Amino acid sequence: MSRSAHPAGPRHADVLPEGHYTAPPADLNVLDEKVWARTVGRNDDGVVTVGGIEVTRLAEEFGTPAYFLDEADFRARCRAWADAFGKDADVFYAGKAFLSRAVVRWLKEEGLNLDVCSGGELTTALDAGMPADRIAFHGNNKSQEEIDRAVEAGVGRIVVDSFQEIVRVAHTAQRLGTRQRVQIRVTVGVEAHTHEFIATAHEDQKFGIPLAGGQAAEAVRRALRLDGIELIGIHSHIGSQIFDTSGFEVAAHRVVRLLAEIRDEHGIELPEIDLGGGLGIAYTSDDDPREPHDIAKALSEIVTRECEAARLRTPRISVEPGRAIVGPTAFTLYEVGTIKPLEGLRTYVSVDGGMSDNIRTALYDAEYSVALVSRTSTAGPMLARVVGKHCESGDIVVKDAFLPADLAPGDLIAVPATGAYCRSMASNYNHALRPPVVAVNDGEARVIVRRETEEDLLRLDVG
Ligand code: LLP
Repeated sequence: MSRSAHPAGPRHADVLPEGHYTAPPADLNVLDEKVWARTVGRNDDGVVTVGGIEVTRLAEEFGTPAYFLDEADFRARCRAWADAFGKDADVFYAGKAFLSRAVVRWLKEEGLNLDVCSGGELTTALDAGMPADRIAFHGNNKSQEEIDRAVEAGVGRIVVDSFQEIVRVAHTAQRLGTRQRVQIRVTVGVEAHTHEFIATAHEDQKFGIPLAGGQAAEAVRRALRLDGIELIGIHSHIGSQIFDTSGFEVAAHRVVRLLAEIRDEHGIELPEIDLGGGLGIAYTSDDDPREPHDIAKALSEIVTRECEAARLRTPRISVEPGRAIVGPTAFTLYEVGTIKPLEGLRTYVSVDGGMSDNIRTALYDAEYSVALVSRTSTAGPMLARVVGKHCESGDIVVKDAFLPADLAPGDLIAVPATGAYCRSMASNYNHALRPPVVAVNDGEARVIVRRETEEDLLRLDVG
């Protein structure tokens, strides 16, 4: 994954170590709008603001570490996805990226649907008033209790993931005197170009039913025989943080081929296909994500073309973006603590959070950007590694980045594009208190998920 080494003279070393960096930007004070939420900027004093509020004020009021989420940006991205896909398609926000009651209300107001993958996410969605028929329920190992709750609530669809689950959902619906709409999740055998742990459409993995060997066709046969379920479509999710749409094209092609086989065998045309989520976002200036309307155009063209070729009516398409909606809308604000320059290597900058609020760097070797946000600086660039305060040397937030060489304890730095899979994957490792999520909008900031307290930790400890 390493990119070319930085050619300019380093501050702490004559030869720069191997790393994930390119040359430092010409001006470290400039924020690349690609990676920052829409309303982020610097004011005349050089302090970064979001929604018109200075990060120094936010840190005073809400403490650090904390996630600050740009509500206007979140809503704008929801609308961009909904508009791009139009009225003939459905956008389901993937709640696993980040979910809270406020988020559910925003989704509801902006006309999006919601994909949940656990009883906890379902409860949050229903509690915040998302109509059940706008919820899709996912998971490769849903418990009977989760299936009961989903069917009872009347979720719009359950995406079934195994032969056992087809039967379970059908029996549950029959017992409850209803008929449940389901999609069958298939694995199309595509190798998505992303990290192995977030690729989900090759055959050797736990999700879905393979198209290969006729297994998906057999699942369809069984589903069509069961009274408790109404098979409405086929689902495919190929993976996450993908920039290249060719994987989606292959997936769409194979899913449409299955629809044609179903038509030939059973004489029915399933009305829906879901192409999942997975669109990549910019974590660093090197990433070039595609816009929702681009993706919508590419996907609907391929589905239409494939359907015409197979002489099928074009099904209703749905997609499930999570990261692409919430990821870019938030940043994590940290206070700088210990600074350790290691001669010939790099400078370790410790912050007051770490792998408990962002596990992605340790887990996926993810790359992030970072900036000094409480002031500007005219100092030269220093090759830094931003690390947390956990008892673990892999506790890295940003592996290689340039920060101003006069960085000092007490400065505030921020890591952008942490809206997705950071708070939702946060942990209490070392009994860290999970940070709050603060929504900022037009000069107002309000906590939507509060900071954990030590009482919260002790409350669970019943020994
Ligand atoms: N639909 C399904 C069925 C999924 O499994 C996922 C993600 C999504 C939609 C949303 O994908 P997105 O658009 O957010 O990429 N923790 C990893 C990502 C795991 C994604 C799991 N499924 C990460 O931090 O990169």
